[in-house]
Amino acid sequence: MALFDVYSLNNITITKANGSYVWDNNGVQYLDMYGGHAVISIGHTNPFWTARIKEQLDQIAFYSNSVILPIQQELSEILERVSGKKDYQLFLCNSGAEANENALKLASFHTGRKKVIAFKKSFHGRTSLAVACTDNPAIVAPVNETDNVTFLPFNDEKALKAEFEKNGKDVAAVIIEGIQGVGGIVEATPSFLKLIRSLTTQYGAVYIADSVQCGYGRSGQFFSHDIAGEDADIYTMAKGMGNGFPIGGILIAPSIKPKIGMLGTTFGGNPLACAAAVAVLEVIEKDNLLETAKTRGTYLINKLKRVNGIENIRGRGLMIGFDVPEHLSGLKQTLLYDFFVFTGEAKPNVIRLLPALNITRKQIDEFIDILEEAIDSLTPKAPPAEEVKEPTSKVVAELK
Ligand SMILES: Cc1ncc(COP(=O)(O)O)c(C=O)c1O
Repeated sequence: MALFDVYSLNNITITKANGSYVWDNNGVQYLDMYGGHAVISIGHTNPFWTARIKEQLDQIAFYSNSVILPIQQELSEILERVSGKKDYQLFLCNSGAEANENALKLASFHTGRKKVIAFKKSFHGRTSLAVACTDNPAIVAPVNETDNVTFLPFNDEKALKAEFEKNGKDVAAVIIEGIQGVGGIVEATPSFLKLIRSLTTQYGAVYIADSVQCGYGRSGQFFSHDIAGEDADIYTMAKGMGNGFPIGGILIAPSIKPKIGMLGTTFGGNPLACAAAVAVLEVIEKDNLLETAKTRGTYLINKLKRVNGIENIRGRGLMIGFDVPEHLSGLKQTLLYDFFVFTGEAKPNVIRLLPALNITRKQIDEFIDILEEAIDSLTPKAPPAEEVKEPTSKVVAELK
């Protein structure tokens, strides 16, 4: 049976991984600066994480949400501590799209309204509502099309105020990434996030902080939206949450009340996924990975700023992007195939770096050296300068 052909695959088979390195089936080692789309938070096959999962596997892998699963409580307690979000409620699911789908649905249940404000260049996932809030018509199927979503320019305070003045009473939610990922590593300004907070409060709408990519410590804070010093009503999480074990979740403010049957899932919150998620948070906590992400991120950004040939270095913590000029458009592929480094991209010309939160300084130095070499290999060399001859006395005389 053929695999449904929807991915543009690199012709590489990865068979082994450890920390920030992976190896292919020929034993070639790759430096992973992308963590499989920002998923690897505590390093590939982190021994603490694998041990936790194996231990859980030997006890019970799955039972449904029809019984008490104490590990869910364990996860919620450590999540409360590490995220600093007191008194929120946790709903568990399996992916980022599902997290956003549930968040949007919950906002609509809570407010009794239908309208959502999302932003240009956003990416919130591929399920029905999540994709309707995603600014990419190519992945929106006709059945997902809706008039309920309004896209506004990112960080445009005037446009946001005008929209609320016009339609505020119909708005169920505003959904925003704290740092746009797929959109090319663009940070929401603290003042824009503050405005979202104040307008949603004023109009009784729900502020949804999509933290699927930018959350879980990647920015140096647990949620990148925290830079504004305001709480969102719902935080959505996935990617880094399980370090590769599929799990997603939403943190829900105490003001939003649950009702039996309102949300639900078969696999969400299963013990095996929770064991992976608990292990991730234990490692983040014991190894102080929020601080590490911040300092290593600053280190990487400062080093990138000294690399000739790339432009507009930006980002926060270990969520970093830069622009690649036209003559280096093959940089990502060159890094992968000639220099064995995984990076990510964003259209049209952005390279995204989303390494594990515990990447070492040595590995960052290794990346910078490789990046410079790769850029050099792609840079057209100026022809050797013609030998400048001393003018002969005759020429000198003519010149006079
Ligand atoms: C900000 C953001 N939200 C949601 C999603 C969807 O997550 P998933 O692919 O797990 O459904 C992604 C995935 O890239 C994302 O970057």
